Amino acid sequence: MARVAALLRGWGEVRGDGPRDIERWAAVGYLHDVLRDADPDELRAALSAPLDHLPDEVIHGPAAADRLRQGGVTDEPLLTAIGFHTLGSPDFDDIGKALYVADFLEPGRKLQPKWRARLRDEMPVGLDSVAKAVVGKRVQFLIKRGRPVPTETFGLWNVLAKGRSWASASEV
Ligand SMILES: [Fe+2]
Repeated sequence: MARVAALLRGWGEVRGDGPRDIERWAAVGYLHDVLRDADPDELRAALSAPLDHLPDEVIHGPAAADRLRQGGVTDEPLLTAIGFHTLGSPDFDDIGKALYVADFLEPGRKLQPKWRARLRDEMPVGLDSVAKAVVGKRVQFLIKRGRPVPTETFGLWNVLAKGRSWASASEV
Protein backbone atom coordinates (compact mmCIF):
# COMPACT_ATOMS: atom_id res chain seq x y z
CA MET A 1 0.00 0.00 0.00
CA ALA A 2 2.87 2.36 0.83
CA ARG A 3 4.47 1.71 -2.58
CA VAL A 4 1.18 2.40 -4.37
CA ALA A 5 0.65 5.56 -2.31
CA ALA A 6 4.21 6.75 -3.05
CA LEU A 7 3.70 6.31 -6.80
CA LEU A 8 0.40 8.20 -6.68
CA ARG A 9 1.86 11.02 -4.58
CA GLY A 10 4.75 11.40 -7.04
CA TRP A 11 2.40 11.50 -10.02
CA GLY A 12 0.19 14.08 -8.31
CA GLU A 13 3.25 16.26 -7.69
CA VAL A 14 4.46 15.99 -11.30
CA ARG A 15 0.98 16.92 -12.51
CA GLY A 16 1.24 20.08 -10.46
CA ASP A 17 -1.91 19.26 -8.49
CA GLY A 18 -2.67 21.28 -5.38
CA PRO A 19 -1.72 19.90 -1.94
CA ARG A 20 -5.26 18.69 -1.24
CA ASP A 21 -5.39 16.66 -4.47
CA ILE A 22 -1.92 15.23 -3.91
CA GLU A 23 -3.09 14.00 -0.48
CA ARG A 24 -6.24 12.62 -2.07
CA TRP A 25 -4.21 10.61 -4.59
CA ALA A 26 -1.90 9.33 -1.86
CA ALA A 27 -4.92 8.49 0.32
CA VAL A 28 -6.46 6.08 -2.21
CA GLY A 29 -3.09 4.32 -2.31
CA TYR A 30 -3.18 3.79 1.44
CA LEU A 31 -6.89 2.96 1.68
CA HIS A 32 -7.67 0.71 -1.29
CA ASP A 33 -6.47 -2.54 0.30
CA VAL A 34 -7.40 -1.73 3.88
CA LEU A 35 -9.79 -4.73 4.00
CA ARG A 36 -7.76 -7.10 1.79
CA ASP A 37 -7.05 -9.49 4.65
CA ALA A 38 -10.59 -9.49 6.05
CA ASP A 39 -12.83 -12.55 5.70
CA PRO A 40 -14.49 -12.27 2.23
CA ASP A 41 -17.70 -13.91 3.45
CA GLU A 42 -18.07 -11.34 6.20
CA LEU A 43 -17.41 -8.52 3.73
CA ARG A 44 -19.93 -9.99 1.30
CA ALA A 45 -22.59 -10.32 4.00
CA ALA A 46 -22.29 -6.61 4.76
CA LEU A 47 -22.67 -5.58 1.10
CA SER A 48 -25.94 -5.27 -0.74
CA ALA A 49 -26.77 -6.06 -4.40
CA PRO A 50 -25.39 -5.74 -7.04
CA LEU A 51 -21.93 -6.04 -5.47
CA ASP A 52 -22.51 -8.99 -3.13
CA HIS A 53 -21.93 -11.47 -5.99
CA LEU A 54 -18.29 -10.48 -6.49
CA PRO A 55 -15.57 -13.11 -6.03
CA ASP A 56 -13.36 -13.31 -2.94
CA GLU A 57 -10.31 -11.61 -4.47
CA VAL A 58 -12.33 -8.56 -5.55
CA ILE A 59 -14.77 -7.99 -2.70
CA HIS A 60 -12.37 -6.02 -0.47
CA GLY A 61 -12.59 -3.00 -2.81
CA PRO A 62 -16.35 -2.41 -2.71
CA ALA A 63 -16.33 -3.28 1.00
CA ALA A 64 -13.71 -0.59 1.72
CA ALA A 65 -15.63 1.99 -0.32
CA ASP A 66 -18.81 1.07 1.53
CA ARG A 67 -17.12 1.45 4.91
CA LEU A 68 -15.73 4.88 3.94
CA ARG A 69 -19.14 5.99 2.68
CA GLN A 70 -20.72 4.93 5.97
CA GLY A 71 -17.99 6.87 7.73
CA GLY A 72 -19.09 10.06 5.97
CA VAL A 73 -16.79 10.16 2.92
CA THR A 74 -18.71 11.74 0.02
CA ASP A 75 -15.94 12.01 -2.60
CA GLU A 76 -17.54 9.79 -5.28
CA PRO A 77 -14.54 9.63 -7.68
CA LEU A 78 -12.37 8.53 -4.72
CA LEU A 79 -14.96 5.95 -3.61
CA THR A 80 -15.27 4.58 -7.16
CA ALA A 81 -11.47 4.39 -7.42
CA ILE A 82 -11.26 2.31 -4.24
CA GLY A 83 -14.37 0.24 -4.91
CA PHE A 84 -13.28 -0.86 -8.37
CA HIS A 85 -9.49 -0.87 -8.07
CA THR A 86 -9.30 -4.56 -9.00
CA LEU A 87 -12.02 -4.74 -11.66
CA GLY A 88 -11.70 -1.33 -13.27
CA SER A 89 -14.78 0.74 -14.04
CA PRO A 90 -16.11 2.82 -16.95
CA ASP A 91 -16.98 5.43 -14.31
CA PHE A 92 -13.33 6.03 -13.35
CA ASP A 93 -12.18 9.62 -13.04
CA ASP A 94 -8.43 10.35 -13.27
CA ILE A 95 -8.00 9.21 -9.66
CA GLY A 96 -9.61 5.85 -10.48
CA LYS A 97 -7.39 5.28 -13.51
CA ALA A 98 -4.32 6.34 -11.55
CA LEU A 99 -5.01 3.91 -8.68
CA TYR A 100 -5.77 1.08 -11.11
CA VAL A 101 -2.48 1.74 -12.89
CA ALA A 102 -0.43 2.25 -9.71
CA ASP A 103 -1.72 -0.98 -8.18
CA PHE A 104 -0.65 -2.88 -11.31
CA LEU A 105 2.67 -1.12 -11.88
CA GLU A 106 4.03 -0.75 -8.34
CA PRO A 107 7.67 -1.84 -8.31
CA GLY A 108 7.04 -4.71 -5.85
CA ARG A 109 5.36 -6.73 -8.61
CA LYS A 110 7.77 -9.29 -10.00
CA LEU A 111 6.26 -10.25 -13.37
CA GLN A 112 7.47 -8.42 -16.50
CA PRO A 113 9.43 -5.77 -14.58
CA LYS A 114 10.75 -4.04 -17.74
CA TRP A 115 7.29 -3.64 -19.24
CA ARG A 116 6.00 -2.27 -15.94
CA ALA A 117 8.94 0.13 -15.59
CA ARG A 118 8.38 1.44 -19.12
CA LEU A 119 4.73 2.16 -18.38
CA ARG A 120 5.65 3.80 -15.05
CA ASP A 121 8.00 6.09 -16.98
CA GLU A 122 5.06 7.24 -19.14
CA MET A 123 3.13 8.38 -16.05
CA PRO A 124 1.48 10.66 -15.21
CA VAL A 125 1.34 12.34 -18.64
CA GLY A 126 0.28 9.13 -20.37
CA LEU A 127 -2.46 8.27 -17.88
CA ASP A 128 -5.07 7.24 -20.47
CA SER A 129 -2.75 5.27 -22.72
CA VAL A 130 -1.08 3.55 -19.75
CA ALA A 131 -4.48 2.67 -18.26
CA LYS A 132 -5.47 1.29 -21.66
CA ALA A 133 -2.31 -0.85 -21.82
CA VAL A 134 -2.96 -2.19 -18.31
CA VAL A 135 -6.63 -3.03 -18.79
CA GLY A 136 -5.85 -4.50 -22.22
CA LYS A 137 -3.26 -6.76 -20.60
CA ARG A 138 -5.78 -7.91 -18.01
CA VAL A 139 -8.46 -8.61 -20.60
CA GLN A 140 -5.98 -10.59 -22.72
CA PHE A 141 -4.82 -12.53 -19.66
CA LEU A 142 -8.38 -13.57 -18.80
CA ILE A 143 -9.30 -14.47 -22.38
CA LYS A 144 -6.12 -16.52 -22.88
CA ARG A 145 -7.09 -18.59 -19.86
CA GLY A 146 -10.67 -18.99 -20.99
CA ARG A 147 -11.93 -17.01 -18.03
CA PRO A 148 -14.85 -14.57 -18.04
CA VAL A 149 -14.05 -10.86 -18.29
CA PRO A 150 -16.05 -8.82 -15.76
CA THR A 151 -18.44 -6.28 -17.27
CA GLU A 152 -16.74 -3.48 -15.34
CA THR A 153 -13.33 -4.38 -16.84
CA PHE A 154 -14.71 -4.40 -20.38
CA GLY A 155 -16.47 -1.14 -19.56
CA LEU A 156 -13.17 0.53 -18.70
CA TRP A 157 -11.56 -0.89 -21.84
CA ASN A 158 -14.39 0.45 -24.01
CA VAL A 159 -14.16 3.93 -22.48
CA LEU A 160 -10.41 4.04 -23.12
CA ALA A 161 -10.72 2.61 -26.64
CA LYS A 162 -13.46 5.07 -27.61
CA GLY A 163 -13.01 6.75 -30.94
CA ARG A 164 -11.85 3.52 -32.56
CA SER A 165 -14.48 1.58 -34.42
CA TRP A 166 -15.09 -2.08 -33.54
CA ALA A 167 -16.44 -2.60 -37.06
CA SER A 168 -12.99 -3.38 -38.49
CA ALA A 169 -12.89 -6.37 -36.15
CA SER A 170 -14.58 -8.23 -39.02
CA GLU A 171 -11.14 -8.19 -40.68
CA VAL A 172 -9.88 -10.63 -38.06
FE1 LIG B 1 -6.70 -4.78 -3.80
